[in-house]
Amino acid sequence: MGTKSRRIFLKLAIASMVSLLFILWNKLTLTHLSLKEKKVNVFPFNKKKLVAFLNRFIVINQNEKTTVLSAYCTHLGCTINKFENGKLICPCHGSEYDLEGNPVKGPAYKNLEKIAAEITDNGTNIKIRG
Ligand code: FES
Repeated sequence: MGTKSRRIFLKLAIASMVSLLFILWNKLTLTHLSLKEKKVNVFPFNKKKLVAFLNRFIVINQNEKTTVLSAYCTHLGCTINKFENGKLICPCHGSEYDLEGNPVKGPAYKNLEKIAAEITDNGTNIKIRG
C-alpha cells in the first residue's frame, strides 16, 4: 500500500469513527430526554401571558393558540428558562429557539418537543401530559 493509499484509508477511517461517535451521541441524548418521567401536571393558566415557564414546560399563548413545549434544550438537556427579544434562550450554551420551538441559533439543531396539553376548569388551569 502506497503512502497516498494509506492517507486515504486513514481519512476514511477517521470519518467513519467521527460519524459513529456522532450517531452514538445523538442516540444517548434522545434516550436521556425520553427517560424523563411522564405524568399529568396541572398548573394555573393565564391566557394573557405570552410565555410562561412552568417547571419543565414552556407554555406559549400567541395568535389565539396555546402551545406547550418541553423546556429541555435539545442540545444537552439543560432547562430553558429565559425569554428575550422573542427568543427562548438556553442558559448553558446559548441555543435559541423561536416560539414554535424551532432552533434559530446553535449549538442545538433539533426542535423543542411539543407536549400535549388541555385547558381545563373554564380556562383557569392547564393540564400538561409529559
Ligand atoms: S444544553 Fe442548551 S445550548 Fe447546550
